Amino acid sequence: ARVAAAADVWDLRRLAAKRAPRMVFDYVDGAAEGEVSLARSVAAFRRVEFAPRVLRDVSEAPTAVEILGRRISMPVVLGPTGFTRMMHRAGERAVARAAQRAGVPYTLSTMGTTAPAGVAAAAPAGWNWFQLYVVRDRARNLETLSMASEAGMDVLVVTVDVPVAGARLRDVRHGLTVPPTLRWRGALEAVRHPAWWLDFLTSEPLRFATVDGAPEDLAGLTNLMFDPSVTFADLEWIRSAWPGRLLVKGVQRADDAKELAALGVDGVVVSNHGGRQLDRAATPLELLPSVVEAVDGRSEVFLDGGVRSGADVAAAVALGARACFIGRAYLYGLMAGGEAGVDRVLELLRAGLVRTLQLLGAGGVDGLGPDLVRLRDR
Ligand code: FNR
Repeated sequence: ARVAAAADVWDLRRLAAKRAPRMVFDYVDGAAEGEVSLARSVAAFRRVEFAPRVLRDVSEAPTAVEILGRRISMPVVLGPTGFTRMMHRAGERAVARAAQRAGVPYTLSTMGTTAPAGVAAAAPAGWNWFQLYVVRDRARNLETLSMASEAGMDVLVVTVDVPVAGARLRDVRHGLTVPPTLRWRGALEAVRHPAWWLDFLTSEPLRFATVDGAPEDLAGLTNLMFDPSVTFADLEWIRSAWPGRLLVKGVQRADDAKELAALGVDGVVVSNHGGRQLDRAATPLELLPSVVEAVDGRSEVFLDGGVRSGADVAAAVALGARACFIGRAYLYGLMAGGEAGVDRVLELLRAGLVRTLQLLGAGGVDGLGPDLVRLRDR
């Protein structure tokens, strides 16, 4: 009921902060080091200036778009997030069901807490994608890919901005472990969030993709599992091992995007991992036009980082993105109210997108272009 009353994603963020234990909320809400990239990514959307056309018939404002050869209901993709069952016990299944209901893709992470088959069973009619982190054990990568492909996932998103773990200082300060454990300060948290802890302690164990004997802190786990030696050559290896479409996520320079397009990847995601990896890395929205130009239509260009509203989606698409991935936005909804919270986020994005298209005089997502939006200096 309370999620239905949320007027925007920020309201859901406030609700999430009340519902989830501080260390869980901070794992989602936080970013690397000084959190400069995160702040800039969000702030960049405030620099958007729209140039609306008037006196256009905007009684219809269709939001459907085609990406990777398939139609989706609006240019939004639910991006991969690790440990989603830590945010709410309904976890990946709830997110995949909400995506299916909204007619947009959902991406399961390698660090997910539900196996690909579980996601496929929860959302059999959804367009379910898989995100790969290349791990040191090469055979394991292939096993993971075949699990995804057997579950019907036909789009692979290879994330390349985590050669090593970023420094998420909020997690360090909380002593966050995966799964979360109750420590001295945590005991106080349990008193404050009894429902969350009860849910959490009675749900199935979190692990799907982690390794036995791994350290419990996230950075330690990441550095133990992930392969920092990955290069463009490995991408060709993945391309040959994967039967479906291939996207590369975490592209942060126009020249890298160009090289990837030349390699024949189906898409690149301009992203700095929501500011969770290299702090002060380039701001996706600002970088987007140069990447679109460099790629020159050879691959589809996606964007993520800081997308919190339908108007943000409209701005990114106008500046050349095929669609936006979202991360925190849906996780705030999930923490605030489980599946209904994710539904609410997608409703808010859709309503905001339609309204923006109408107010812009754009007559649908297809009418968006760089003449309708510019980025102010401040
Ligand atoms: C992420 N992100 C992420 N990306 C990825 O490729 N694999 C993963 O497992 C995760 N895990 C993850 C966990 C959490 C809690 C967050 C917030 C993010 C990054 C994510 O896919 C996306 O790039 C960012 O979230 C985009 O920024 P916004 O939308 O959160 O501002």
